[in-house]
Amino acid sequence: MKILVLNGPNLNMLGVREPAIYGDRSFAALEAFIRESCRELEVACELFQSNHEGELVTRIQQAYGVFDGIVINPAAYTHTSVAILDALKAVGIPTVEVHLSDISAREPFRQFSYVSLAAVKTIAGRGFDGYRDAVVYLKEHYDPARA
Ligand code: DQA
Repeated sequence: MKILVLNGPNLNMLGVREPAIYGDRSFAALEAFIRESCRELEVACELFQSNHEGELVTRIQQAYGVFDGIVINPAAYTHTSVAILDALKAVGIPTVEVHLSDISAREPFRQFSYVSLAAVKTIAGRGFDGYRDAVVYLKEHYDPARA
């Protein structure tokens, strides 16, 4: 099983960015955590972070026929991007949406997610562990007949 893990804008600033909300661990630590989780779960993974909406759209398109699942933290694009929603719908790859913080308990503008409309599951407020939970979920629901 191959999973693409996508992180959106400003997540590369983890550790520096609003530590009271996002914690004091760095983005490099998050990537190491995701790679280690995938290794333990025996799932192949590829990681990509971008601050650009179009680059995320392109990576989702390129995942078609290559990846069996997507884990995405679209960051601020969660709440604005019809383009990312459409890309996820276009490829039809099972996708779990992850947020470090509990977006349902934050500002009203964070409480709507376009990406949720295409995701099979949303995990929020679990910090780094949410990414591992997402991979576990995709593995448990993996249907090799789809690949
Ligand atoms: C986030 C929540 C978003 O509202 C915010 O714009 C982010 C990070 C999270 O992981 O909690 O950049 O996706």
